[in-house]
Amino acid sequence: MKDQQHQPRDLDGNAVTPGLPMAMLAEVTHRCPLACPYCSNPVELTRAAQELTADDWGRVFRQAADLGVLQVHISGGEPGARRDLAQIVAHARDAGLYVNLITSGIGITRDRLEELDRAGVDHVQLSLQGIRPDMADRISGHPGSWDKKMHFADWVKDIGFPLTINAVVHRQNLERLPEMIELAETLGARRIEVATVQFHGWADLNRKALMPTREQAAFARQVVNDARVRLRGRMVIDYVPADHHAVFPKACMGGWGSTGLNVGPDGTVLPCHAAQTITWMRFENVRDRDLGDIWQNSDSFNAFRGTAWMPEPCQSCDRKTVDFGGCRCQAMALAGDARATDPVCSLSPLHPQVVARAEADAGADTADLIYRRMRKGD
Ligand code: SF4
Ligand code: FES
Repeated sequence: MKDQQHQPRDLDGNAVTPGLPMAMLAEVTHRCPLACPYCSNPVELTRAAQELTADDWGRVFRQAADLGVLQVHISGGEPGARRDLAQIVAHARDAGLYVNLITSGIGITRDRLEELDRAGVDHVQLSLQGIRPDMADRISGHPGSWDKKMHFADWVKDIGFPLTINAVVHRQNLERLPEMIELAETLGARRIEVATVQFHGWADLNRKALMPTREQAAFARQVVNDARVRLRGRMVIDYVPADHHAVFPKACMGGWGSTGLNVGPDGTVLPCHAAQTITWMRFENVRDRDLGDIWQNSDSFNAFRGTAWMPEPCQSCDRKTVDFGGCRCQAMALAGDARATDPVCSLSPLHPQVVARAEADAGADTADLIYRRMRKGD
């Protein structure tokens, strides 16, 4: 099936052929024992009854491998909430994919982790919400989470999985970033992903409590730069900066429909995790259509490929093939228009308003959090 509305083109009118995706994020469930207020899951969470079965996932993984995907990040929610997680992992392994398990570490026992090892998990990515029990338990909304995570990290080490620590940073924990990096070292991580909170999904409800200050953004940049020098050859630091305080936006997803795709718990295929905030866009589902066809031909994936869709000032800007006009979901959230230049860009006409709002949110006198919760009956 070929959709015709959005044939990607460059500024000279030449057709643009989509590249191949390297990685797929498989959000196998939205269920999660934690309640992190910065969760990027949609505010309307998918119910368990709507989730794809393990066999459905097997079909999706085979289609992904045929398309050229090399690695799958199995995530959620908390993937451990799926009792059939080992079966899902085995399907991914059978499809020849490198399997990265992204987990909170809560609800996966040592026996289960060993089972997941046998099933084919190659790498574990563990999220941390703080560097002490009180901070971690408060941010995650889950008393006792810290102790469970530390046990889990020990098992990861014992079994011999390579480990990445995933640390979301925001106004309430950014001062402790140096200790977070030290903790990752202590836990034997080979990589730490320091991601400043992105204000999509639940995080957007918590802007006033989580928006970093400009000073914190500068501090984090310096801490990361120093740590990269100190840890060269021992631990990799991936860093997603606080772009509300930056000059140019990030190249979100490496460009829309360019290197990766997400499949949600119910089989909805998204160009990025927050794409459903673009309310006018229609998304395809693996229950109805082959993944490769969705990637190559669907309107949702083609909408922001190439450069012809870009507005000014992006069209005349040298950075249009560097940051691809920034993040489409951020443009939707801040400009009310997914086709706009990302308003965090200093060249956007909306930039002064965005900076003023970010400064106001960063200065808000509140630490109160709205926790991510499933509705009753989910
Ligand atoms: Fe990127 Fe567009 Fe800003 Fe240029 S004007 S830096 S392409 S967002
Ligand atoms: Fe959707 Fe950036 S989060 S394009």
